Amino acid sequence: MSMDVDILRALRRAGGGSVSGAELSQSLGVSRAAIWARVQDLRALGYDIEASPHQGYRMLSTPDLLHADDLLSRLESIRVIGRDIRVFQETTSTNDVIEKLARDGVKEGVVVFAEAQTKGRGRLGRKWISPPGKGLWFSLLLRPALRPEEATRLTIVAATALRRAIANATQLRPEIKWPNDILINGKKTAGILTEMHAEPDQVKHLVIGIGVDVNLEAEEFPPELRQIATSLRAETGEAVDRPELACRILKELDAEYERLNAGRFSEVADEWEEHCTTIGRQVSIRLGERQLRGRAEALGEDGALLVRSEHGRLEPVIGGDVTLEKLT
Ligand code: BTN
Repeated sequence: MSMDVDILRALRRAGGGSVSGAELSQSLGVSRAAIWARVQDLRALGYDIEASPHQGYRMLSTPDLLHADDLLSRLESIRVIGRDIRVFQETTSTNDVIEKLARDGVKEGVVVFAEAQTKGRGRLGRKWISPPGKGLWFSLLLRPALRPEEATRLTIVAATALRRAIANATQLRPEIKWPNDILINGKKTAGILTEMHAEPDQVKHLVIGIGVDVNLEAEEFPPELRQIATSLRAETGEAVDRPELACRILKELDAEYERLNAGRFSEVADEWEEHCTTIGRQVSIRLGERQLRGRAEALGEDGALLVRSEHGRLEPVIGGDVTLEKLT
């Protein structure tokens, strides 16, 4: 782990107080000059670190920047998701970067953030706008012991974690629209794109891509999306701290993934159902050429949406484009 992780962690732990250069150099086993050099580099990135000859170093403020060492320094008790973090200033799609890492044999839990994506994509081949510094555009690699038909569980896990993190960070009341949308006041604020590489009876790896519209202004959305999409900033009226939100999301994802692996998916599913606006509603779902209309009744054991069709059959749905019919 880089020295910057330890320095940032020590400064943050001091909670606005100072940490002496001697203390840092002793605990990290390097010279005081080496600490000073690292602090200079962090300052150049925008970390406002006060240095006083008598008191030592004090963190006054941190920039709105996704910096891998900073994120790692905030994630102390992570088990899997977020133990390896990489940040790109720009990439095509973070899902593509993770896919490549997966094929290179990288361990599960690696997370790739990009400040901007040039080819961000959503479900069903849609484009995902990803302007620099305005959102959280990231993907993670998982290698769960699941059958391909159970992979939808991971989207449920991710949506549950994402909803909870946004609720705790903003005091807003996010809702889930099956399977992957996070809505605030009825407008989409975040989405999840799960891509799978599997053999007939076993998932090899999953790429979970998450996009959160954090600090976009309403007019930064393309005109055709303004009625249906929003950002956390637009809903709260103030800028949201992206690195802090990123870490909250990773901690929740790690905790939910742990619950899944401990055989407690039903607990995750209960929380998901509690916040899902799709359950109990009349829905219309486009499944390729077919249109399924009916009532969304519940979540199935493997994460499928159970829809009671107009003909009275209970149909499990694992993909497709859901339209909620108007409440009367
Ligand atoms: C959707 O709601 O349709 C899913 C949107 C997923 C967007 C994220 S942004 C990070 C990752 N990289 C991508 O290209 N897509 C996902």
